[in-house]
This record gives sequence, C-alpha cells and structure tokens, in this order.
Amino acid sequence: MLIRKAQLKDLADINEIYNHAILNLTATFDEEIKTSQERQEWFASHQDLQYPLIVAEDKGEVVGWGTISPFRPRTAYRFSGETSIYVRNDMYGQGIGTFLLKELIILAGENNLHTIFGIIVDDNNSSIKLHSKLGFEKVGYLKGAGFKFNRWLDIIIMQKML
Ligand SMILES: CC(C)(COP(=O)(O)OP(=O)(O)OC[C@H]1O[C@@H](n2cnc3c(N)ncnc32)[C@H](O)[C@@H]1OP(=O)(O)O)[C@@H](O)C(=O)NCCC(=O)NCCS
Repeated sequence: MLIRKAQLKDLADINEIYNHAILNLTATFDEEIKTSQERQEWFASHQDLQYPLIVAEDKGEVVGWGTISPFRPRTAYRFSGETSIYVRNDMYGQGIGTFLLKELIILAGENNLHTIFGIIVDDNNSSIKLHSKLGFEKVGYLKGAGFKFNRWLDIIIMQKML
C-alpha cells in the first residue's frame, strides 16, 4: 500500500469513489454526482500545501483518497482544517482509512494547521471509530443538520488539536 500526493491522472478514480458515496451513503451531504470538470476545479483548489490531497494506491489502483479542506472560508479560520476520507467500497475495513488519516494528520501538522475537524454523520460508526482511534475527540453535536434519502441527519463534530 502506497500513500502519495494525488495527481491529475487519479481524478477519475477519486471521482468514482466519491460519486458512489454520494449516491449510496449519508457520509457525504452532497446529493448530485460530481462531473469531471467540477473535480478538476476542486483538484486545483487543493494544490495549496496547507490543504493536501492524497491517495492510497494498491497494486497500481487508487483504492482511497483523503484531503484536508478549509474548515470555513472566513480568514480567521485559516489555521483550521476539515478532513475527508473515502475508501473504495470493496476495500473497507482493511486499514486504508487509517493509513490515509494518519498521513493527513502528519501533513496538517507540517503545514502549520492548529486544529482539524471531522464532521461526521452520527451513525457512521467506522468513521467515528477511525477518528477516535487517531486522537480526535467528540466536541459537538448538531441535530437535523442535513436531509438526505428522505430523513433528517444529525452530525457529530470531532476535533484534534495539532
Ligand atoms: C470510514 C472509512 C473512511 C474508514 O476507512 P476503512 O479503511 O474502512 O477503515 P479502517 O480499516 O482503517 O478501520 C478504521 C477503524 O474503524 C473500524 N471499523 C471499520 N468498519 C467498521 C464498522 N462498520 N463499524 C464500526 N467500526 C468499524 C475498524 O475496526 C478500525 O478500528 P480498529 O483499527 O481499532 O479495528 C471507510 O469505511 C469509508 O470510506 N466509508 C465511506 C465514506 C465515509 O464514511 N467517509 C468518512 C466521511 S466522515
């Protein structure tokens, strides 16, 4: 398993993994699949060192990706980031998410972030477990913050100080 910086050639695989999550999971609050054009703009916005975009590669295939995005756009939030991790659905539970999040934590520290957040739908047990075991604490709970697949969704805010 190799963890490396994402390249333009990975975008189709990244998008396929994410679009599967959009259509099938509450893990993301996106509801419309992303086009390759949108992905390219997103890729460009993650070339800043502070907001790394990485992939997990296994036998030459992208099997997961992770990124840190700005937590919120206003400038005083500039030392805060938000994690996103998506593993290909046939590869869950094999440690890929753990590898990706460990690397994101290292990069966030190196890139001078002060804290990172995981914003996680409250029944996403694997993501909650993943963030907890790497030192994130539950610091907040928002009721009914999302509505997808015809139901209201609560979210847990998890935080790690760097
Ligand atoms: C959440 C996700 C990133 C975790 O990645 P993964 O590669 O499957 O996770 P890992 O194999 O590294 O396991 C992480 C921990 O979660 C636990 N876990 C895995 N699946 C679980 C489940 N269904 N319920 C509870 N815990 C689970 C593992 O036991 C492991 O803990 P351990 O090392 O103490 O045993 C992955 O499942 C995924 O992409 N899910 C869909 C998208 C998503 O939810 N992204 C996160 C958005 S906040």
